[in-house]
Amino acid sequence: MDLSGISALLTSEGWALLESLPPYDEAEAMVLGERLRAAGHPADLVSAALTQSRLRAAGRAKFGPFADGMLFTPTGLEQATRFAVAARHAQRFASAGVERVADLGCGIGADSMALATFDREVLAVERDELTAAVATMNLRHWPEAVVRCEDATATDLTGIGAAFVDPARRTASGKRVLDPRQGSPTLDFVVGLAGRLAAVGMKTAPGIAHHLVPPGAEAQWVSVGGDVVECALWFGLTAREGVRRAALVLPPDGVPDDAEGVDTADPVEVTDAGMPDPETGAVGAVLYEPDGAVIRAGLVGQVAALVEGRLVDPTIAYVTSDRVVRTALATAYAVEDVMPFQLKSLRTALRDRGVGRLTIKKRGTAVEPEQLRRQLRLEGDAEATIVLTRVAGRQSVLFVRPLR
Ligand SMILES: C[S@@+](CC[C@H](N)C(=O)[O-])C[C@H]1O[C@@H](n2cnc3c(N)ncnc32)[C@H](O)[C@@H]1O
Repeated sequence: MDLSGISALLTSEGWALLESLPPYDEAEAMVLGERLRAAGHPADLVSAALTQSRLRAAGRAKFGPFADGMLFTPTGLEQATRFAVAARHAQRFASAGVERVADLGCGIGADSMALATFDREVLAVERDELTAAVATMNLRHWPEAVVRCEDATATDLTGIGAAFVDPARRTASGKRVLDPRQGSPTLDFVVGLAGRLAAVGMKTAPGIAHHLVPPGAEAQWVSVGGDVVECALWFGLTAREGVRRAALVLPPDGVPDDAEGVDTADPVEVTDAGMPDPETGAVGAVLYEPDGAVIRAGLVGQVAALVEGRLVDPTIAYVTSDRVVRTALATAYAVEDVMPFQLKSLRTALRDRGVGRLTIKKRGTAVEPEQLRRQLRLEGDAEATIVLTRVAGRQSVLFVRPLR
């Protein structure tokens, strides 16, 4: 997808062609392309329209039906914030009461669209010409939104009270950059902004080291459907009083509702405010595997408090309790057996149970699940789940059953 392809789509003929396409079907794309060319549409336009149609289909995973009215570049789609998470970003600025927000490095404009949806006046800045053109198109429904194609680190922010920065996290050669000090724009640039503007937010990779979170900022790790998608840093009016670390756990579509088995009254977010120091103790009737966002945020203690439980080991992020508590913050398993880890006795235990299909979960052990599976020489029709981990410093095996 290049600038001439996008330009061709932005003519009335191009847009009409794109809008007339049926839902994208990879198996039909070649035949459809031939038919459109035979009907007299220029080959370049057909190719651009089919590419866009494919990207829109892929974009549904992040934007749902909104994707059908958007334009994408492949990289822009990959880097874009899914709409449910962008809406959370925008909500912070709306709650902070800042009217004019600059989206510095706006990509195809997903965060800008969410900000505009929350009635913020958006200045979207993008240095890549093609991506800026796509953002302009995606922001067409909000006439107050302005897109500028320039270097965001040199943008004039006169009259702007807030900024959101979602840096590019790849080098020119395509290598991933996980350290926010090396993204574009950099963490230093954002800290500088936070010194001059009332409210600033920055998206970083979930693996950000805790010591890199600047003093006074709030770091919020977010997971969607079990995948930790980001750690957002919030400064000034967008940072919450008394919160330094938070974990927000969202279901696959990003909209917490009455997910089956989970009490809707359950928190989907925990913070470090008032976090107790979790105790360590014996494995109880239930094992809880905290969501990745909770673990990354270092808030396993909050899950322990919620389920009135304890850690199985001071260094391992498994919580155990004698109570079943349905929570979005952790996956619960009934504990059926606990034994020291020893290959021979584990093999015997699995034989006795006739286990032919085994799910192996592990934390805090060097054991390679696939190698172990071969060594166990499983036979039988039964299914089982085991957890390999340290319990009070000892390598152990827990036989568990998922509680749904
Ligand atoms: C991760 S993407 C932003 C995605 C966006 N938040 C969204 O949801 O669509 C980062 C973007 O910043 C742009 N960028 C990087 N450095 C920049 C700079 N100094 N000035 C302007 N844009 C920049 C890149 O071209 C890229 O499109």
